[in-house]
Amino acid sequence: MSDKYQAFTQSAIGKLLVKNLGLPSPAKLERYTAGDPLVRGTVLVGGRGRLADELPGLLDVIGAASETARAEGRRYKGLVFDATGLTSIDQLVEMQEFFTPVLRSLESCPRVVVIGTPPELVKGAERVAQRALEGFTRSLGKEIGRGGTVQLVYVADGYEDSLLSTLGFLLSPKSAYVSGQVVRIGAHREQKAAPVADWSRPLAGKVAFVTGASRGIGEEIARVLHRDGASIVGLDVPQAADDLQRVMKELDGDWLTLDITAKDAPQRIAQHLKEKHGGVDIVVHNAGVTLDKKLANQTPERFGKVLQINIEAPEKITAELLEQKVVNAGGRIVGVASIAGIAGNVGQTSYAASKAGVIGFVDSLTNELEDGITINAVAPGFIITQMTAAVPFATREVGQRLNAMAQGGLPVDVAETIAWYASPGSTAVNGNVVRVCGQMMLGA
Ligand SMILES: NC(=O)c1ccc[n+]([C@@H]2O[C@H](COP(=O)([O-])OP(=O)(O)OC[C@H]3O[C@@H](n4cnc5c(N)ncnc54)[C@H](O)[C@@H]3O)[C@@H](O)[C@H]2O)c1
Repeated sequence: MSDKYQAFTQSAIGKLLVKNLGLPSPAKLERYTAGDPLVRGTVLVGGRGRLADELPGLLDVIGAASETARAEGRRYKGLVFDATGLTSIDQLVEMQEFFTPVLRSLESCPRVVVIGTPPELVKGAERVAQRALEGFTRSLGKEIGRGGTVQLVYVADGYEDSLLSTLGFLLSPKSAYVSGQVVRIGAHREQKAAPVADWSRPLAGKVAFVTGASRGIGEEIARVLHRDGASIVGLDVPQAADDLQRVMKELDGDWLTLDITAKDAPQRIAQHLKEKHGGVDIVVHNAGVTLDKKLANQTPERFGKVLQINIEAPEKITAELLEQKVVNAGGRIVGVASIAGIAGNVGQTSYAASKAGVIGFVDSLTNELEDGITINAVAPGFIITQMTAAVPFATREVGQRLNAMAQGGLPVDVAETIAWYASPGSTAVNGNVVRVCGQMMLGA
């Protein structure tokens, strides 16, 4: 399931054709390998506001070298701009003054993070200026090229210390296929980040439950959470039992084979996690299906089945786990939505409804959870798996290229995003829906 077009563009003849015909040229994205430093180069810090003085110290904690003044001839891996001090539109020019001179001195796969204040928490001209940051970062994301990413992180006043896990993710190769996103920290409830004892194994001692874990994105989520120190309990349908056991045995994990839409599934899952593991810390609702048909040709059975698997079952399982207090304090609930649930897609009224429902599910619980429990979702774009291998060639090619990185993502890109949500350092990261889509050109 490799990207043959990308391999071709890196051959001699491919390079020639890309140059002369103006074809899309997907950069080779850097990805994280266990043991690597989180940030592979120097970060230039700029701007003014609540965080400017603290940023070099925060970056130091995640092992990133930083400078606050641009050194002539230096190439930068990351740029972090504190925009929390910008309180009126005319001050936004300070961003242009910081970024323009340095954009040509960036290393490959650069990382840009702009930090602002959630607009909904401020008023008047400041609110206007803070909201404007979104247009700036989303546009720079589409311009930056060479595998670069650009994000906007809105941090509520008083939550500056809760920024670490997010900086560690967004400045590292772990966020290879995440760009043009807006993340909110501390914007919903008073929950501050817990300390992270070991940044290479932030999930040590945690139990993670992953549905649809026998293959594809779910398998990779299990692998990445295990790499970060968690014990894994994987679930899949009985037909996938062999694959599930193979993966779980490799990860020293435990497994459950059942259909999540079975009537007794929520109780069986709750009982298993309680009795065998004393509870659960991370719940990832990854299992999902597509049964595409244009609405004019749809049947109630197919339409209903997609809704049952993709959203009704996660809702019921979560309700049961919360009611029986199976989710431990500091727990993490993660939904897997889809870009289709945001932008819509031909033939996918059922799938897109179910995935928009996943976003509604996050919204419905954001302010309800207690004991440091959070809920967030990822919305993958085109991820290269068996699910997307079944898409017809022409649609697949268009789907893969129509994003700022001109390529499909890998299951690991979704898994790394979920591992960031799962970190003890992410307690203030709540109620977010982050797209893992290489900044798709279509949709929201
Ligand atoms: N691949 C993509 O590009 C993409 C894009 C957006 C969203 N997603 C979402 O990511 C998730 C994983 O997708 P994938 O590409 O790895 O798909 P996949 O088909 O490879 O894997 C899905 C897994 O879920 C399991 N599953 C399905 N129905 C189940 C049920 N009733 N009970 C228990 N397990 C069940 C399957 O057996 C399978 O192992 C899905 O929710 C999907 O909608 C994928």
